[in-house]
Amino acid sequence: MSSQIIPVEPFDYVVFGGSGDLAERKLLPALYHRQVEGQFSEPTRIIGASRSALSNEEYRKFADAALKEHLKKGEYDDAEVKKFLARLFYVPVDARSDAGWDQLKKLLDEGKERVRAFYLAVAPGIFGDISQKIHDHKLITKQTRIVVEKPIGRDLASALQLNDTIGKVFKEEQIFRIDHYLGKETVQNLMALRFANALYEPLWNANHIDHVQITVAESVGLEGRAGYYDTAGALRDMVQNHILQLLCLTAMEIPSSMDSEAVRDEKLKVLRALKPIDASNVEQATVRGQYRAGASAGGPVKGYLDELEGGVSNTETFVAIKAEIGNWRWAGVPFYIRTGKRLAGRVSEIVITFKHIPHTIFDQAAGRIVANQLIIRLQPDEGVKQSLMIKDPGPGGMRLRNVSLDMSFASAFNVRNPDAYERLLMDVIRSNQTLFMRRDEVEAAWKWVDPILKGWEEAGQQVQGYTAGTWGPSQAIALIERDGRTWHDDI
Ligand code: BG6
Repeated sequence: MSSQIIPVEPFDYVVFGGSGDLAERKLLPALYHRQVEGQFSEPTRIIGASRSALSNEEYRKFADAALKEHLKKGEYDDAEVKKFLARLFYVPVDARSDAGWDQLKKLLDEGKERVRAFYLAVAPGIFGDISQKIHDHKLITKQTRIVVEKPIGRDLASALQLNDTIGKVFKEEQIFRIDHYLGKETVQNLMALRFANALYEPLWNANHIDHVQITVAESVGLEGRAGYYDTAGALRDMVQNHILQLLCLTAMEIPSSMDSEAVRDEKLKVLRALKPIDASNVEQATVRGQYRAGASAGGPVKGYLDELEGGVSNTETFVAIKAEIGNWRWAGVPFYIRTGKRLAGRVSEIVITFKHIPHTIFDQAAGRIVANQLIIRLQPDEGVKQSLMIKDPGPGGMRLRNVSLDMSFASAFNVRNPDAYERLLMDVIRSNQTLFMRRDEVEAAWKWVDPILKGWEEAGQQVQGYTAGTWGPSQAIALIERDGRTWHDDI
């Protein structure tokens, strides 16, 4: 089965930080795939911009090496790569001086009528400088958008400041705050599942759902990002953005349409309804962890502190939270969240556990009746599983068995699963903001996260060690088991 491709208008994508890690690993391969699948209209250009003094030729070599390294086997096609490299240009610019900006303007003026997107794949400290330079050098046309990567601030105050700085130059409808989790195929499938089926929505509330679990587990460690990570930690790095976005899509009311404002209005209401966690309850509702030496991805790995220069840190590489939403739909339904580095596997999933049946008509010999679960798997093996009790086949009386209706998307549809960035990069060109965070969403998320950070400080809540390659500290198991529930670790 092939997916349907709707070509986008011709565009110029200017990638600040064009020779950086994100461009190399994600943006260039994603744009290459969109070209191969026929989504570009001509003339379309990709313009790398950063402080490094590269020529067009050198940038093309960099991009070629990036494609060789990051495309999967069989995806590198000589003719397509040649075509792709020919649309690449490079301009050395300095965010803090005027160097290079006239050259960028000259290049962009060749395509004034095209959609123009500026992608800030740079440290947030220079978002403001770059926006101002874009403005001062008159690079903003009617068809211009700006894309900003996380982190958008490290607390509410810095997020407000950052949003103000960008907001001085760009209108909200031109600003695309990227959260790549929203571009993942299964995240959108969550909306299809909920809103295109009559089956789930009547059950999607506190009357029928016992609890929800959201797990984003990684087996990798710091991947050379210790400098950033040690100042952030798991709560800022994963929960404030990706996990809260997953929680919003799971918990939101039905928007009146897929219109970007309608969807984001509903997500915002969820964020605002999250019950506060602060110094008064932070120790009961959260667990902070930090990995110690152990084994992961098939070999021995160092502990977090051994990877840091100073060897001392109270930064969490794991966090588990019992969150609650204060509204009618979710009253009394805990949302257990956990995420961490160097865990036992790489898995992201949302597990909806329904309530137990109120009364059983089967005798003991039938076996235990397990509550139904809906498992929405984001990665790996994207898909949806619905567990159901059935009768064990064959003679021997009524024995019950828990089975899964298992739909793995890869095997069901036999299509390449596009990387999240592919969809999001094209949504920017299409000017569709549904899968991007609005300013008030980012701020509402910080409003919930800030008191947790402050609570940890006030309560002096330390990180609990966990061995690399396990599912986190035992306190995280206790967090859910205190409520008579268990983490879904059947993975
Ligand atoms: C990023 C975080 O936003 O998401 C990283 O900064 C994390 O720390 C990454 O590893 C996870 O993304 P994915 O798509 O690999 O699950």
